[in-house]
Amino acid sequence: MKESGPRAKPKTGPGYLQAMAHRAPSKVTVPVIRGRKGTGRRILALTAYDYPSARLVDEAGFDLILVGDSIANVVLGHASTLKISLDQMISATRAVRRAVDRPLVVSDMPYGSYHLGTQDTLQNALRLVREGGAQAVKLEGGGPRVELVEALVEADIPVMAHLGLLPQAIHPRGGYKLAGRSRKEARKLLQDALDLEAAGAFALVLEGVPSSVAARISQHLQIPTIGIGAGAGCDGQILVFHDVIGLSFGRNPRFARRYANVTDVIREALDNLADDIRSGAFPSPKESYHLKEALPEDWDLGLGQATDEG
Ligand code: KIV
Repeated sequence: MKESGPRAKPKTGPGYLQAMAHRAPSKVTVPVIRGRKGTGRRILALTAYDYPSARLVDEAGFDLILVGDSIANVVLGHASTLKISLDQMISATRAVRRAVDRPLVVSDMPYGSYHLGTQDTLQNALRLVREGGAQAVKLEGGGPRVELVEALVEADIPVMAHLGLLPQAIHPRGGYKLAGRSRKEARKLLQDALDLEAAGAFALVLEGVPSSVAARISQHLQIPTIGIGAGAGCDGQILVFHDVIGLSFGRNPRFARRYANVTDVIREALDNLADDIRSGAFPSPKESYHLKEALPEDWDLGLGQATDEG
């Protein structure tokens, strides 16, 4: 493949021009995301885990890319996010950073990377920033996580918090559980959200929360909320890239609207390639390299006369 590198992006075409029309002129930073609160301009966020997906998300004018630990499920085929390591997250974050010009790149702190104390959490987050190029990190939960958020922010590592359905907490919670469905739970969510805000989080992901509760939490906070399965009352929305483009298997969750069916496109392309190889239609003469002069009929690659000239 000849063309590569972030600077080699196409500068024409309807996709690019449309993206430019939606673009703010400058790079999206943590204060830019924070400053969206109350402006009515919704935050556009999506996951990406590699160079091509990140590049396309950037070209489409999204503000924030999350290198989510959902890479474990949607790319690596694990049953949960618990399997992904810090080194894998760093490697994915690097690829994403190489691809993007404008969006803020936030990297998920994987399971186990912030569960062993403040010092360990700081060291791991620093690796995501220094080695991966993350501009902020995300971690799941309130309560005991609040002081970790404080410590990270103190260390100049911006934090996006995450409440509601917590994929890393499937064992203690007994599965992928929606949150905030009773008054008591909703109050707890709001309290956690306020505590995380006070600890210095610059934004809050609300996942799998009833829309009325998410909207009310959003009204109470001074930082923006970014919803996934949390209704339209959040300050922004985030989805998983593969769900949006239909490059996943099985049914999408109800909140993950599918905008394309890339799986079918790939299947058709691969079926066609396989047919063409079987029939000999691929490769054609145009897709092959040729000598300037035809080989003589009796040419035997020099096997008959082992000379240096061949
Ligand atoms: O890893 C992930 O995909 C997430 C979601 C909030 C998008 O954390």
